[in-house]
Amino acid sequence: MSTPRTAVIVVAAGSGTRLGHAEPKAFVPLADGTVLSTAIAGVLAMRETPAIVVVVPGDRADRVRDELAPRVAEAGASLDVVAGGTTRQESVARGLAVVGSGIEVVLVHDAARPLTPALVFDEVEAAVRTRGHGIVPALEVVDTIKRVAGGEVVETVDRSELRAVQTPQGFPRGALDHAYRTADAEYTDDAALAAAAGVVVDTVPGDVRAFKITVPADLHRAEQLLAERLDAESDTSPSRTPAAAPDRPRVPRVGTGTDVHAFAADDAPLWLAGLEWPGERGLSGHSDGDAAAHAICDALLAAAGLGDVGAIFGTADARFAGAHGEVFLAETRRLVEASGFVIGNVTVQIVGNRPKLAPRRAEAEALLSAVLDAPVSVAATTSDALGFTGRGEGVAAIATALVMPA
Ligand code: CTP
Ligand code: MG
Repeated sequence: MSTPRTAVIVVAAGSGTRLGHAEPKAFVPLADGTVLSTAIAGVLAMRETPAIVVVVPGDRADRVRDELAPRVAEAGASLDVVAGGTTRQESVARGLAVVGSGIEVVLVHDAARPLTPALVFDEVEAAVRTRGHGIVPALEVVDTIKRVAGGEVVETVDRSELRAVQTPQGFPRGALDHAYRTADAEYTDDAALAAAAGVVVDTVPGDVRAFKITVPADLHRAEQLLAERLDAESDTSPSRTPAAAPDRPRVPRVGTGTDVHAFAADDAPLWLAGLEWPGERGLSGHSDGDAAAHAICDALLAAAGLGDVGAIFGTADARFAGAHGEVFLAETRRLVEASGFVIGNVTVQIVGNRPKLAPRRAEAEALLSAVLDAPVSVAATTSDALGFTGRGEGVAAIATALVMPA
């Protein structure tokens, strides 16, 4: 077992009052297991096996440990089962108290969201690592929301500013520890508690399957979705590889990236599409200004759900000052592959009057394809003398990348 760098705390100590079942919510039967065992399956399907902490009603801790231990051990994960508290916040705090010292990132997840795909855990974890702060999965709100007073509609709230947030919510370990140590009120989720302690929290896309089982209709929906999933799994068509985790859709993902750099006022050399172009005017920028390489990086990062060039290669990072496109591309490829994807192919189109690409297109494609170990097509166009590219003030590049789950 490699030492885990991430812990997932699954809180399952609530009573499930609104569900109204004889058993506490996490122990209600679901498909051929329970709500909790289904939730744990999602965690075990993560790309990198985490340390798992399960928080349950005190009188069930021993039983849960006995039941989960074999499956968790088989997946190569560690397991701690601890007794929860009277509020969710207290339950999380008790889970946090047993997280091992080597853990860098902590994800907190409601057992009551048992169908949350492993991919959501992976994306939250990756985003905490690359962005260095709190991350919540969030969905746009589809209903029109009204503010009411005593039943009377007072106003319609601007929906575009609202998000429905889910779990897992992820945090750098030190920030979450500090936030829980200093919390002096009850918060509705970990993100609110962390934000109150000054932790920046932002979002990754949520997933409708991460819905919370609260009332009986939610349990019914979960049963139906699981039945459909089991049907799909029994499909033995050859395209289904054994490695396909049932809840991680093995579909390709695309991303788009654009970049623009102005021609430099000095006599800096031009670097574009990974090549140096002697005799051409250079582009300005913190790095070498290679708009084509940067657009490709953005497209790849977007496809893998890893953010963007600005967030990952910040201008404050001295490693990338003056760096050539190849450096960015190699690091981007490493990040994309580390998050469980292989690069399918990439296209990039350069918009500008100069340089003339055609004589060196094959050279650029060969270089970029070698760095990414995937086919890269390079095209160019002018903008019919219109705009800043037409006036010869700079170069734009637009890239599309396709990645596939490894
Ligand atoms: N939770 C917990 N400890 C508590 C309260 C809640 O670990 N003291 C967990 C629940 O088990 C659940 C998650 O927090 O996985 C989200 O809470 P919620 O959906 O409100 O679950 P319950 O509190 O169990 O349900 P209810 O509010 O209907 O009683
Ligand atoms: Mg509750």
